[in-house]
Amino acid sequence: MESTGFIVSHTYRPLTSLQSLPSPRGIPVFGNARQIVPEKMHQQLEEWSHVFGDRYRIKLGSRQVLVCSNPDDIATVLKDRPSRFRRSTRIEMVAKELQMAGVFAAHGEDWRRQRALVMQAFNPIHVKSYFPSLQNVAERFRKRLARQADTGIPFELEPDLMRYTVDVTAGLAFGTDMNTIASNGEIVQEHLSDIFRMLQKRLFAPFPYWHWFKLPEDRALDRSVQKVGETIATFVHEAHERMAKNPTLYEQPENLLEAMIAARDEDNAKLSQSDLTGNVMTMLLAGEDTTAHTLAWTIYLLHQHPDVFLRIRQEADDVMGTNAIASSHEQLREMDFIEACINESMRLRPVAPVIAAEATLDTEVANVSVPKGTMVLLLSRVGATDKRHFSNALNFYPGRWLLPASDENNRKVCFPFGAGPRLCPGRFLALEEMKIVISLIAKNFDIKNLDTLDGGPVQERMRFTMAPNELCLTLRHRTQSLR
Ligand code: HEM
Repeated sequence: MESTGFIVSHTYRPLTSLQSLPSPRGIPVFGNARQIVPEKMHQQLEEWSHVFGDRYRIKLGSRQVLVCSNPDDIATVLKDRPSRFRRSTRIEMVAKELQMAGVFAAHGEDWRRQRALVMQAFNPIHVKSYFPSLQNVAERFRKRLARQADTGIPFELEPDLMRYTVDVTAGLAFGTDMNTIASNGEIVQEHLSDIFRMLQKRLFAPFPYWHWFKLPEDRALDRSVQKVGETIATFVHEAHERMAKNPTLYEQPENLLEAMIAARDEDNAKLSQSDLTGNVMTMLLAGEDTTAHTLAWTIYLLHQHPDVFLRIRQEADDVMGTNAIASSHEQLREMDFIEACINESMRLRPVAPVIAAEATLDTEVANVSVPKGTMVLLLSRVGATDKRHFSNALNFYPGRWLLPASDENNRKVCFPFGAGPRLCPGRFLALEEMKIVISLIAKNFDIKNLDTLDGGPVQERMRFTMAPNELCLTLRHRTQSLR
C-alpha cells in the first residue's frame, strides 16, 4: 500500500491499462460473478485485495470492474464526484424501478438540487433543535428494553433497533410520529428489509434478469415496494395538510419533507412527485439500516469487552447523573468515550465496507486507465484495519480515538460515512441517535447475554449495508449501583 497523504501526483507516467491489472480467474459469460455470494460480497472482495493488492480487476458478466483498497485512491474517487465519478448507473436504474430515485442515487444537477435540501434538513443546528423529539423516541425505546429486561428472555435485537431508527428518521425528516416502537403488528421496517436484500442482489446481478422474468422474490419485492409506497403517501398527505393549514411552512419548512414540497427551482418548477416519493423512501432506507446495524455491532463489541462497557457506564453516570436517559444535546456532546466506541466499531465493522462509483469520462485512478462507464468498487475497511495505519489494528481499542492524531487513530484512512461532496448528510443525526441509545443501555441495563438466533457464530451479512446475522440480546436491569 502507498502513502496515506491525499496528494495527487502530476508527474507523467504512462498509464497502466485496466485489462493488465491482476484479476481472480473467472468463467466465461459470468466472469467472477458466480464466485461472489451477494451476502458475503465484501469479504470476498477484501480477501482478493490481500491476494491481488491495492488495485485489481474483476468481471461481473461483461462488465469490467476496478477494485481499489488504497485509502488515497478511495479519497480521490470519492472527492472527484460528480466531475469524474458518480454513483453507478445500475443503482440509478434499480432505484428508479423501486421508487427510490432520490438524493442517494441521483446524478448531476438533480443531485445538487436535492442535496442542498437534504443538507439543510440535517444540518447540526436542525439536528440539535430536534433533541426533544429524539429524547422522546429514545425514552420509548428504553421502556421497550425495560419490558424485555423484566422478562429476562432473549429478544431479537435488530428489529427493535430498526423500530427506533425509523421512528427517529420519520420524526425528523417527515414530521411524523410513527411510533413503531409501541406497535407489535406489521411495520414498514419488515418491507424495508426485503427491499434492501433485493437491492443488493439486483445491483450486482450479471444482467437485469427481472426485466425478462420475475422470480417469487421479485414479486415479493413488488409487494414490499407497494406497501412502503402506501406509508409514504400518508406522510406526504399529512405534510400537505399541515402546510395548507399553516402556509408559513412554505416559507419556513420545519422538516425535509416540507422543504421538498415547498422547493422551487430557478424556473419555479416544483420537485416532481417521483422525486418527492423517492427521497422519502431514500431517507427511510438510508437512516434505518445504517444506524441500526452500527448500534448492533457496537453492542456486540461491548458485550465482548465488559471492561469497555463499564467505562461507558462510568461516563454515562458522570454525564447523566441520576437520569435514566440523556437530558440535553449538550450531555450527548460530553460523551467522548461513547463516541470513541462508536468510531472504533465503525472502523472494525463499517456498515458500508464497499462504496461503488462509476467513471463519468475516460479517466485514471492511480495511473490505471479507467474507461468511461467503468464501475469502481472502493473497499474502505482494508486500510482501516491495516497495521501500517493503526497499531493493534484488529483490536477493539476505543481509547485510541481520544489520543492526539497519530498512527493510533488515523482518520484519513477511515471512511465510515464516505467522503467528499457526497459524504453522508445524516452523520450528525446518526451520532446523536447512537450516543443516546448506548448511554441509556449502559446506564440502565446489564448485558446478560448476546447470542445468535441459531446459536452459531456471529457473521457479517451484506444486504446493501453490512449487518450481523440475527443477534439475540438478553438484558437485565442494572445491578451495579451508581457510584
Ligand atoms: C451510522 C449511520 C450511518 C452510516 C454509517 C452512513 C454511511 C453512509 C455512507 C458510507 C454514505 C455514502 C457516502 C459517499 O458516497 O461518500 C452515505 C450516504 C448517505 N446517507 Fe448515510 N449513513 C448513516 C446514517 C444516515 C442517516 C441517519 C441518514 C438520514 C436519515 C443518512 C442519509 C444518507 C443520504 C441521504 C446519503 C446520500 C448522500 C448523497 O449521495 O449525496 N445516513 N451514508
